[in-house]
This record gives sequence, C-alpha cells and structure tokens, in this order.
Amino acid sequence: MTFAIHKAVFPIAGLGSRFLPATKASAKEMLPVVDKPLIQYAVEEAYEAGIRHMIFVTGRTKRSVEDHFDTAYELENELEQAGKTELLKIARSIAPDDMVCSYVRQPRALGLGHAVLCAEPLVGNEAFAVLLADDLMVGKPSITAQMVKQYEELQASILAVQDVPLAHTNRYGIVSAVHTNGDLTDISGIVEKPAPKDAPGTLAVAGRYILNPGIFQELKNTPKGAGGEIQLTDAIAQLLKKEKVFAYRYQGTRYDCGSKLGFLQATVDLGEHHPQVGAEFTAWLSSRR
Ligand code: UTP
Repeated sequence: MTFAIHKAVFPIAGLGSRFLPATKASAKEMLPVVDKPLIQYAVEEAYEAGIRHMIFVTGRTKRSVEDHFDTAYELENELEQAGKTELLKIARSIAPDDMVCSYVRQPRALGLGHAVLCAEPLVGNEAFAVLLADDLMVGKPSITAQMVKQYEELQASILAVQDVPLAHTNRYGIVSAVHTNGDLTDISGIVEKPAPKDAPGTLAVAGRYILNPGIFQELKNTPKGAGGEIQLTDAIAQLLKKEKVFAYRYQGTRYDCGSKLGFLQATVDLGEHHPQVGAEFTAWLSSRR
C-alpha cells in the first residue's frame, strides 16, 4: 500500500518553559509517559500512518532525541550477551530499518512557524505532516493516519481540531467555519489564542497538521505575531486566501503534555491501560479513592 504523505516534521526546538524546572537542561519531548518518551509516541503515530521520513527541528538541550533514534551499540551488545531478547527487541524497535531520521537546527526559538520553515530544505515541494509531540494523541487508527486518509481524498491542507470550552480559546489557534460536513469543516479563517470574547468559535487546533508545501512561501512572508514569534497560524491564515484548508475533528483523545496537568492525566490514563502494569496500577488507584 502506498500513502500520500511521506514526510513528518517534528518541531522540538521550543523552550518548554511551562514545564520548568524539568526542562531547564533536558528535552521536554523526552519526558516519559509511563515508559516511552513523548517524541516516540509521536513518531510511532506518524509511522502507523505510512510515513517513513521523520524530520526533527531541534535546538539546544535536544541532543538526547537524536540519541534515542540512533543505534545504541553498547546497550544492544550488553542485552544480547545477557540473552535479554525481549528488552533487545524493545531497544531495536525504536528505529525500524525502513525509517529515516533527519535533523535540522532552529538556531533560536522564533516560534512554531519559523521551526516549520527550517524544515523546508528537507521537505521540498510535497505535502507533509506536522506533529507536536507535546500533544500526546491516542486514537485507533492513529490521528495522523486518520488525517492522511482525509488528505488522500481532499488533496488540501488539514488541521486536527477539537471543541474546547469558550473560556479556553486563549490557549489555542481557533478556526472559523464556513461549512461542516460530518467530521470535516471547510474553514474561512484562523486566529491564534483569541480571548473568549473575540473568538470566532470554539473549534481549536490540536498539534497535528497536514500542510501543502505552499505554506513555506506564506511562512517566509509572515511577520512576527503573538508573543514576538512567527506563528504557523498566521501563515495558515494567508494560505487560506489562496487554497482551501480543512479542519478535521479527529476520533481520539488529546493530552496536553506541555502542561503539568495534561502530563499527569496522560500518565494516569496510559498507566491504567499499560499491558505490564495497568491492572496493578488501577487496583492501587482504586485502593486510594
Ligand atoms: P509550545 O509553545 O507549546 O512549546 O510550542 P514550547 O515553546 O516548547 O513550550 P512553552 O510554551 O515554553 O512551555 C509548540 C511546539 O512548537 C515547538 C515546540 O517544541 C512545541 O513542540 N516550537 C515552538 C519550536 O520548535 N520552536 C519554537 O520556536 C517554538
């Protein structure tokens, strides 16, 4: 089977300031939920969608991400010698043989839009996925797989969206709808983090996108916006003037693991469903309620 999207961009160069002190010298994306770092959940999600070329936009303190997806000869050798085949399988499965990883540095954290633009030389002139690893998304099929399927039909940029309480619009990019048909909404506009009184609705963008390469031209022309950063949202608003962009209400659950509360919620939910420790953890939680 061939898929329409071959490349995924993972912008991981942000400062992770909401998760200080943990993120002072370590990558937010390497924080583990139960036993797997956030970035690995995102990479597995893209892989499940048929994507094989993973492009990481990295920054200072993110070197451990490169090591995570590299071969760990010493570790593998030790595990092999000790006959620990199950653990060896886990270590090797992180980077399957048919997966290619590329890295590009974002020299300064100038915003998500700027980070995506840094990936242009590696993406080239084709549609690509963007996954923000601090949004941990759980769905079957994976949220990115759902979006790739939509892209195959629409051949247009697609943003993953969810309904949020009106009071929370100032945390998200919010889209304005033209027409909704089932899970798909034809959108007419998008604004970054509007106050509830200014929000055009409550459909909020989650950290998954499929973007046509035309976005790069828009990013190059996008001035600094909210927070002095080059916002992906602003470039999408410009792209909308030239081509259709859709919002897709995904089937699944999102955990905002860039925030401490979301991270704790993900840990409890995924912990309860973990094949090794889930039953015991659930029993322990119940005993405390
Ligand atoms: P966030 O704003 O959620 O992440 O950016 P952050 O900047 O790391 O965290 P806080 O707000 O300071 O706590 C969304 C995504 O965009 C990436 C981040 O790594 C995150 O995955 N990003 C953001 C970049 O790669 N570069 C940037 O300049 C900004």
